[in-house]
Amino acid sequence: MGLRNAALVALASVTLLPIVWEAGQRAEVKPTMRKTAFGETADGQPVDLYVLTNKHGLEADITNYGGIVVSLKVPDRKGKLADIALGYDTLEGYEQDKAYLGAIIGRYGNRIAHGAFTLEGVTYHLPLNNGDNSLHGGIKGFNKKVWRAKDVSTPQTPALHLNYLSKDGEEGYPGKVSVEVVYTLTDGDELRIDYTATTDKETIINLTNHSYFNLAGAGNGDILNHQVMIAADRFTPVGANLIPTGEIRSVQGTPFDFRKATAISARINENDQQLQFGHGYDHNWVINNGRGTSPSPAAEVYEPQSGRVLEAWTTEPGVQFYSGNFLDGTIRGKGNKVYNRRYGFCLETQHFPDSPNHPQFPSTVLKPGATYHSTTIYRFAVR
Ligand code: BGC
Repeated sequence: MGLRNAALVALASVTLLPIVWEAGQRAEVKPTMRKTAFGETADGQPVDLYVLTNKHGLEADITNYGGIVVSLKVPDRKGKLADIALGYDTLEGYEQDKAYLGAIIGRYGNRIAHGAFTLEGVTYHLPLNNGDNSLHGGIKGFNKKVWRAKDVSTPQTPALHLNYLSKDGEEGYPGKVSVEVVYTLTDGDELRIDYTATTDKETIINLTNHSYFNLAGAGNGDILNHQVMIAADRFTPVGANLIPTGEIRSVQGTPFDFRKATAISARINENDQQLQFGHGYDHNWVINNGRGTSPSPAAEVYEPQSGRVLEAWTTEPGVQFYSGNFLDGTIRGKGNKVYNRRYGFCLETQHFPDSPNHPQFPSTVLKPGATYHSTTIYRFAVR
């Protein structure tokens, strides 16, 4: 480590400012996108893996099956890369997955109570796949579809365009919906996700990415020592079924106050009804400056051992911070590693859960002629 960086690290540990490795710290490489076969689905559709590498050598592997982020290699404070995204070695792993590892979620990320909602006087009933709720788009949501893929890289920036056409009535949702997701690995060490959707009939939409992160490396223990900051004064409390009650509650004085960076472990076992309902953190925070036309800071996570920092920025109004409570050791992930309880966390940028049944929440209705746009950025740094 050069003197300048030593000084910056010392400074950062006092001020808690993230430091991005200077160019030159790691040898620069030519940004590329490589396509390789990832296998065939059980019903015989070929699927590819796209390997995006930026000039600092960060690497994102994305498949057009479910738009899934299969692997994400980012440096620690010594410049050593590790794969920090939970996932599987094979396509079959993803076809059987029930935890949504790395996937694009749609049409509706998160829960809809009783799987029911009403649009223009018509009540729609979605298949229930989470107790009495519909969760993450249904039985075969966007995470289980083969998307059409196109390389839209520029010389500096590898980028993958994915597109999926969801039929009218698919999984119970009205309207034929055309969805586009563009993944870009920027030279600012960001994985940027741009979502676009249009419909031919009034419908609802809430798209997100369901990556589970472990900044110490996927499969290398639990995430309880990670320090989390969430830029939210308020959250949406839930009932026992994890459906929001409709209240928007201040985080002040609760274990949900992450306005200052706090270890996940610090309060997760407190005797708190919301934590009990979530079996830990599994809630939607109301981002303070959410709903902008450009992304606002939503959350920042720091892992002290590796020094890795993940910042999440979004145009969405909310973020589901999920502490991997339902991981239970039954998943054998990449490199044969077992994912036990709380081995990964998610920051699912989103509209609030069950919005179609809460008119006071920001609307998830998409009308014909309108275009749904949203952007989320996961930015990687070290401290
Ligand atoms: C939900 C969790 C759920 C997980 C995997 C998260 O978005 O909030 O309750 O277990 O996804 O399905």
